[in-house]
Parts: sequence; C-alpha cells; structure tokens
Amino acid sequence: MENNNIGLIGCGAMGSALARGMISRGGIDPASVYLYDLNEARKKQLASEVNANSAESLDEFIPHCRFIFLAVKPQDTEGLLYAIKPMVQDGQIYASIAAGITINYIESCLYSGTKVVRLMPNTPCLIGEGAIVISTGDAVTEDECREVEKLLEPLGMTIRLPENLMDAATGLSGTGPAYVYLFIETMIDAGVSVGIRRDVSSKLVIQNVIGAAKMLDSNVQHPAELRNIVTSPAGTTSSAMLILEENGFRSCLIKAVREATKRSEELRMG
Ligand SMILES: NC(=O)c1ccc[n+]([C@@H]2O[C@H](COP(=O)([O-])OP(=O)(O)OC[C@H]3O[C@@H](n4cnc5c(N)ncnc54)[C@H](OP(=O)(O)O)[C@@H]3O)[C@@H](O)[C@H]2O)c1
Repeated sequence: MENNNIGLIGCGAMGSALARGMISRGGIDPASVYLYDLNEARKKQLASEVNANSAESLDEFIPHCRFIFLAVKPQDTEGLLYAIKPMVQDGQIYASIAAGITINYIESCLYSGTKVVRLMPNTPCLIGEGAIVISTGDAVTEDECREVEKLLEPLGMTIRLPENLMDAATGLSGTGPAYVYLFIETMIDAGVSVGIRRDVSSKLVIQNVIGAAKMLDSNVQHPAELRNIVTSPAGTTSSAMLILEENGFRSCLIKAVREATKRSEELRMG
C-alpha cells in the first residue's frame, strides 16, 4: 500500500487518546487520519477537535488506509471485523487495543496472513504518560512494528512482549493505574487520620508518588536500595515497614496482580 493513512475505529476514551496523541502531540498530518464511530456525535466532536476526517462509513476509508486502529469494546470487535473483512487490502496493518482479543482471533475473523498488532495501553496514555505493551502477529515485519511504535510514541512508552504475556501485562500494567490510585487514596486518608487537612494531604501524597517515581526513573538504583536509604535505625520508616510486612502488603499486591491476570485469561477470546 502506497500511503500511510490512518483509520481509527472507536472514538471513546482510548480511541480519543490515540487520536489526540498521534495528531496533537505526534505531528501526524490530520488530513491523513480518518475517524469512525457508531456514535456520530462522539466521532464529529473528536474529528473537529483534532482536525481529522470524520468518515461516514467503513468503506469510505478502510480500503485507503495503511494503518487501522481498532478501539472498540471487546464484545463489539467480532462484528466489526466481519464488516471490515471484504475491504481488507494487502499491506494493511490492523492494530487492536481490545482487551482479551487475540491476534489469532483477529486473523481468523479477517484472513490468515493479515498483519495484526495487539496493544495493551493504560489510561495515562490520555496525557502522554502511558505504558503500551505490544505483541505482533507473524505477518508483521520488524520495520512495520517500528512504524507502529513510532505512531504510539506520543502516548507514552512502548514495550514489546510475546503475546502469551498479554494477560499478565493486562493484570500488571493495563490495570496498574488503579492500584496506584487506590494507594494514593488510602495514603490521603491516612494523612487525614493523623491530623493533616485533606487538600494538603492530597498534595503531599501525590508529590510523594511523583517524586519517588521520578527518582526510580532517573536512577539505576533498585527500589529496595532507595527504601533502605530512608530507613534509619529504629526510625519512623522502620516502624511503618514492620506494620506493612505484618499485614501482608507485598503478598496482597502480588495476589491482586495474579487475580487480574487470571480474570484477563478468563475473558480472553481466541
Ligand atoms: N479504558 C482503558 O483503560 C483501557 C485499557 C486498555 C485497553 N482498553 C481497550 O480499549 C477499547 C476501547 O475502550 P474504551 O474505554 O475507549 O471504550 P468506549 O469509550 O466505549 O469507546 C468505544 C467506542 O466505539 C464505539 N463502537 C462500538 N462498536 C462500534 C463499531 N462497530 N463501529 C464503530 N464504533 C463502534 C462505541 O460506540 P457506542 O458507545 O455507541 O457503543 C464507543 O463510542 C476496549 O476494547 C478496551 O478493552 C481500554
């Protein structure tokens, strides 16, 4: 296929994040992007915001796009794939973010040999700070995978994993922000319980998380080393760590990720 046009189906939360990232932050020419959604208002609003084309039907853009992003709910994916099937062209790359929909399943709904990329993003993609796990089907070349990664760069970082780890990636990273939000929410309540005003507690906790994450990001040190540095003998951190260990903080988190991974496996299609 000669062009690098992009078709995006599904203009909801994640589809919008993809469009905004690629166009507003990534510098993709909006004239080469076609948006489609069954919800007309959602599609038109996004198209006008990012200046992209608002497509009236699938056949208006599918045959003319090299990259097709599928951003509909898992239960809507099968019907969509069968509607797309008669329009598939050689050289097209289909990138799906639908949780639990396997590459094999997409290929079986389209044609075996179709170039398929499976993505597991997380919600910080909305602000360009996401983590996106990528798996590719056999028909996708290294250069093509790099092209997809380049398109996704403005949404955050990308990490390639074999598809058999996609459920684990869902349990760890797709679900990851929820663990962090719960931790932050609980820490804010903890601050209130020791006498700090809620708005102040909130600012302190959020800055703690940002600061700690940035230290890990800019440092080669292991989190345990950084924790040891702030744990002085018979000090406050040491007392706090004892309580967390006694109450199974680590095993609780590990079990949560394992349970989310298991649930992702149960929901898998294909
Ligand atoms: N949100 C997350 O944190 C997250 C993380 C990782 C992966 N994902 C995946 O991202 C995908 C999209 O999630 P979302 O939260 O963005 O969903 P969403 O907000 O519901 O957006 C999906 C959009 O697609 C539309 N749609 C449904 N069927 C369609 C069809 N056949 N053709 C065109 N448009 C169609 C929906 O319209 P109607 O509302 O009218 O049905 C809706 O506007 C899901 O598969 C999910 O598994 C989400």
